[in-house]
Order: sequence, then structure tokens, then C-alpha cells
Amino acid sequence: MVSEEEIRARLEQAGQSHLLRFWAELEPAGRASLLTELALLDPDELREHCQRAAAACTQEQQGPLERLDARMQPVQPEFLGSVRKSDPQTLQLWEEEGFHQIAQNKVAVLLLAGGQGTRLGVTYPKGMYRVGLPSGKTLYELQAERICRVEQLAGRRHNTRCSVPWYIMTSEFTLKPTVEFFKENNFFQLDPDNVIMFEQRMLPAVSFNGQAILERKDKVAMAPDGNGGLYRALVDNRILEDMERRGVEYVHVYCVDNILVKMADPLFIGFCVLKGADCGAKVVEKAYPTEPVGVVCQVDGIYQVVEYSEVEVETVQRRDESGNLVFNAGNICNHFFTRNFLQTVTREFEPLLKSHVAIKKVPFVDEDGNLVKPLKPNGIKMEKFVFDVFQFSKNFVAFEVLREEEFSPLKNSDTANKDCPTTARQALLAQHYRWAVRAGAHFVDENGVRIPEQPSTLGTENPPVLCEISPLVSYFGEGLEAYLKDKDIHSPFILDENKAKLLEKA
Ligand code: UD1
Repeated sequence: MVSEEEIRARLEQAGQSHLLRFWAELEPAGRASLLTELALLDPDELREHCQRAAAACTQEQQGPLERLDARMQPVQPEFLGSVRKSDPQTLQLWEEEGFHQIAQNKVAVLLLAGGQGTRLGVTYPKGMYRVGLPSGKTLYELQAERICRVEQLAGRRHNTRCSVPWYIMTSEFTLKPTVEFFKENNFFQLDPDNVIMFEQRMLPAVSFNGQAILERKDKVAMAPDGNGGLYRALVDNRILEDMERRGVEYVHVYCVDNILVKMADPLFIGFCVLKGADCGAKVVEKAYPTEPVGVVCQVDGIYQVVEYSEVEVETVQRRDESGNLVFNAGNICNHFFTRNFLQTVTREFEPLLKSHVAIKKVPFVDEDGNLVKPLKPNGIKMEKFVFDVFQFSKNFVAFEVLREEEFSPLKNSDTANKDCPTTARQALLAQHYRWAVRAGAHFVDENGVRIPEQPSTLGTENPPVLCEISPLVSYFGEGLEAYLKDKDIHSPFILDENKAKLLEKA
């Protein structure tokens, strides 16, 4: 362990000696844990981090130097694929290519799960959240089952056994509970060797005058370094080497909270591979102009995501001659990267990624050692964003997918009425209802009378019946005719593997 003297010297060098101001009062255990925490902070980096945070905060409060609005252009049509606008043969070609790559073990998925989920208001990782489905499944379970199914589908098509490794980036907050949850659930039947969890770095929260904040007398207030902390974490944990060893060439990166996420989506992977892309993003049409999603666009000819808060409301509302929003490519945090691109980013570009400033209420101990829960923001958190590497891409593509099939994020608690457990549950159940009806199922009430169909249900309202389909049975609605065509189905209906076997025989 690094000695107290050494830590004192380092803090002095960093201009952060106040972090030891309660040293004399601490018990041995508190002293030890504080020293361990401080030993991880490089003095030069700490000094720079605190100075940069305070400067960025001042800048933020003064407003941006120059507005982006006039420099923005939408995604060029030749770099934008679309599910809605493509013919069935083209879609099939892309999907075939995706399955082909998956069957050769060249595709991995990477989950960004280091966030704190503060808006949802839970103290455990978001992936462990249950939105109240009839099956009681958590987000992690749904995701694990989709991986199983996509491996199976690719394997069957190409007469092979294949695997899609699942990399999970966690943080100090989420690593332990996530590991325990996966163990308790026997890794949801996945091979534990193919589930690779790693941790991103943490950074101190900083006060407006550039001092790292103590959240307890023996603890610095730390926060994960943003989902763009991915690139440092890949290096710290030698993840790209692991991918290389497994022969992984393409990585689908996604965020934890989208209940409809199509992991290792063969269509998206195939599209990106056939376009020769090194980097890609799935997008959806924005639901309404001021929807709080980032927009994929070009700024001065370079691809990036502009967060809705960074532009004027007039820009967000601009429409073209046909009445469509000009900046309509909503980022759903689903990205495609080649391993080579990730290697270049980690080797050459990571230090160039800008830090974004978030001004937050950070609990702290005051001069007298009292714990204070501030009523207004008092601290700066610095975060890097995963999509800030788009600018380094040599061949960037965007792929527009259908919102009702692919995007329903869980951000807030139910009191917010949007992007919450209820909307996520409805979106999934409406999707499964549409799939069942499309496959020829007839839903009947307790008297055997048919319930009129509402196949256009888009997930914004409750479907007329409760129908949940296990991802182990169907990944994107495929293959359901074998179980459901012309069958009378009673609600609530859960189609899991056992039920599917029974229905197939019936
Ligand atoms: C994110 C996108 C936004 C997009 C929206 C769609 C970013 C920065 N923003 O916004 O453009 O429109 O999703 O739902 O990607 N995470 C970490 N480590 C961290 C912080 C976050 O792994 O330090 C993970 C979270 O666990 C989550 C994902 O990154 O899975 C998204 O994080 P969050 O910060 O919540 O971004 P959003 O505001 O949801």
C-alpha cells in the first residue's frame, strides 16, 4: 500500500490536499480505504482533471463559444440505410450477410452498463430491472435470451455452432451486483466463458472552484467517466486482445435500457459490413421535434451526434419541402464498430475525445464534517461520450430502423409517464401481439369469442390482449406460424419454449 506521506505529496502536487483534511479523525479502516482510493489517482491527471472541470463549467455557464446550428447538415442519403425504404430482396441480402458473419464467430455484442440509473431511481443496475412483464423477466434476461436465439438462428442457417460473446462494461457501482446477478441466474444458460465483464474508470466530482469533492470524511465523490470511458476501459482490460483471440471482427455496442434492443442484429451488421463501414449508428425517426435524443448529423462535414440541448429550438423544428424534420435521425445508442476501428481509436484518438460537462447535485461533507445534501447543483462531473469517435471514421453509415420494433428506452420512473417501465412494457407486449397476429393467431375471450384484432398497435397503447413471446422462441417475430397459425389463443398468453413444443404438436 502507498504510504500516507506519499499520498500527501501527490495531493499537494495536484493541488488537492484538502482531501486529507479529516485524516486525524479517521479510524484505521477509514484511513486505509481512503488511501487505497487516492492511490489510484495520478497526481498530474488529477490536477488537470480538476482544472479542466472548473474551466469547462465556467465556459458552459457563459454559453457555447459558437453555435453549431449553422454548421449542421443531415446524414447524406447515400450513407443512410433504411428498413422502411428498402425492398425485401435488399433487406434479405443484408440479413444473410449478418448471419454469415455471426456463424463465423466474427460478431460480438458490447453492453454499456456502467451508468448509475439515477433518473429511474433504483439503487441496483438497470439491467436487473423488471418492467412488469407477465414472465417477470429482467432486461438482462431478455438480452441473454436474444443472444442465445441469434446464435441458434445463425448456426442453423450455416450448419455450424457459433457464439456471440457478450462484453459488459460496468463501473464501480454496477460490477459486483451484475456479476452476482449473472451467477445467481446461472448466466441465463449462456456459456460463462462468453460473458466478459469489465470495469470502466471513475473520476472525481469537482466543485465549481476546482476542488475534488469529499462525499464522506473517508471517501472522494467519484462518478463513472461516461459511456465514452469505453475506449480507455478496452485498453485497461485488454478487451480488444480478447476479441482478436476469439476472431471477433465486428462489434455491436448498445445501451442497457432499450427493452426492444436487437442485439447482434444480422440486418444491421450485414448492412454495415456490405457497405464497408468501420463505424455505424442505428437511428430512428424522431417521435417529435424536441424529443430528448441526440441527432446523428454532420457538423462541418464530419459525422457526429448533437444532443438536443446543444442546438436552438428552431433548428430542431426545421422541416424540408416534404414536411419532414431535417434533423430526424434520432440516436438510439446502438453502434457498429469494426475491431480495427476500435484499435485505431484506442491507440491514436482516445485522448482527443472531448469531455462533456454535467452539473449535478453532489452530496458532500462541509468544513465541519457534516454531511450535506445540496438543494442546488454544486458539482461538476466530466464524461466522455461513446459516439464522439464517429469523427474518426473513414466510412461512417447510419441505419434507420422502425421505432416500434426497436426502440423503447427505460429512463424514468413511472411518474414521468414517458420512457418509463409502463411504456417499455407496453412497447414489448404490443410488438409481441403484432407478431402473433401476423403469424395467424386468433385471440379469443373466456367464452371462446374472437377478440377483434388491432394489428396496427404501435406500442403507444395497450394491446387488446396480453401476449409475451420468449426471445428463445422468436428473436424478431420469425418462425411463429409453426405454433400460432389458425390457433385460438387465450389471453394472457406466454409463449416460452415448453409451450411452443406443445403447440407445435397440437
Ligand atoms: C443516450 C445517448 C443519446 C441517445 C439516448 C437514447 C449517449 C452519451 N447519449 O442518452 O444520444 O439519444 O441514449 O436512449 O450515448 N453508461 C455507462 N457509463 C457511464 C455512463 C453511461 O456505461 O459512465 C451507459 C448507461 O449504463 C447506458 C448508456 O451508457 O446504458 C446510456 O447512458 P446515459 O448516460 O443514460 O445516456 P442517455 O442520456 O440515455
